Amino acid sequence: MARILIVDDEENIISTITHILQDEGHVVFPALNGADALNFLTKNEVELVILDVWLPDMNGLDLLEKIRSTGIEASVIMISGHGSIDIAVRSTRMGAFDFIEKPPSLDRLITSVNNALEQVRLRKENIKLKKMSFVDDEMIGLSPAMQEIKGVIKRAAKTNARVFITGGNGTGKELVAKAIFQLSNRSDKPFVKVNCAAIPGELIESELFGHEKGSFTGALNRRMGKFELADTGTLFLDEICDMSLAAQAKVLRVLQEQELERVGGNETVSVDVRVIAATNVDVAKAIEEGKFREDLYYRLNVIPVHVPRLSERSSDLELLVGYFLKKFSEEHGTGEKKLSKESMDFLKKYPWPGNVRELKNIMERVVIMVPDEVIELSELKKKHEP
Ligand SMILES: Nc1ncnc2c1ncn2[C@@H]1O[C@H](COP(=O)(O)OP(=O)(O)OP(=O)(O)O)[C@@H](O)[C@H]1O
Ligand SMILES: [Mg+2]
Repeated sequence: MARILIVDDEENIISTITHILQDEGHVVFPALNGADALNFLTKNEVELVILDVWLPDMNGLDLLEKIRSTGIEASVIMISGHGSIDIAVRSTRMGAFDFIEKPPSLDRLITSVNNALEQVRLRKENIKLKKMSFVDDEMIGLSPAMQEIKGVIKRAAKTNARVFITGGNGTGKELVAKAIFQLSNRSDKPFVKVNCAAIPGELIESELFGHEKGSFTGALNRRMGKFELADTGTLFLDEICDMSLAAQAKVLRVLQEQELERVGGNETVSVDVRVIAATNVDVAKAIEEGKFREDLYYRLNVIPVHVPRLSERSSDLELLVGYFLKKFSEEHGTGEKKLSKESMDFLKKYPWPGNVRELKNIMERVVIMVPDEVIELSELKKKHEP
């Protein structure tokens, strides 16, 4: 069940659509002109707006633009009796989900409404998930390198500039991306992450740009891509150097044009997405080997952030150890834990191939496994070197 606003000056159209949608179990509100619709939308939450292109007091496209620019999280389906391809194209470019000619056929209307509601549901779910357990750690570190990174994050966050994060495994690249997002003006909009390394080459384009029903075997329905899901928000392209070259070319186009086409589709969809990218590979080498497009790199690398290895910021080690011991002893209810001096000296000399993630895992393990308050080197080594 969803709440749907219908904006149309023809009462018979309102009543036809209302009946169809009520039969589907939705709650429907009518508005006969643009002013009433806007007034309603500022006071009430709806999931979907069905909007006539021709209204007595304003152009439906202008109303669409107002809805989009006020950040109302509702999907919009445009309807028109004087349907022209031109208006259909313009409205989808402006962020309408679909365009239907009047009088709408029952099937067409229901399918479009269901798809539009699914889009809203996904976006809302994304926002909710993001609020629930978005980051599980504060960004700890007072080393010069970490202070520098925190300064860059603060300055870059409020802009829409693209950020390119490099650094080894487990150094905290994702934490940096999320910190930028949280401090940005887009923090109440979606944050969508794509792990480019985890998606097979043949699926990455559909994952990023969506696809139309029937565009390939298995494409049973129209599906939104991550770019569209991230519209007005932030897209985190993780492990960007692992993306297929074909997908890289398309991403480059979207960054240049701010618009995309779904796989198997020919309509153009405009998107407003801030992109943050990250990689743990040597970018210069990936470019040289022809695995990563140089032009894409320059587009993405507006603000570079390099997160150094943990072994290069040993002054943060003690802080991180203290932070994780406290965090995990509280989480697991084990009582306070400390490292013996020998244990700490050992950790300071350890090379940390897995960086902060490795340290975090070890700290959680010793908190759970060692019953004593002081964690001796023998205990640490037991867990440490299998
Ligand atoms: N400075 C930090 N302070 C506290 N926790 C941190 C810090 N850096 C990283 N972490 C924690 O360490 C873990 C690994 O960090 P993150 O996932 O951001 O690393 P990554 O660079 O994206 O790793 P990978 O290359 O493996 O994807 C996370 O649980 C994160 O919360
Ligand atoms: Mg990561």
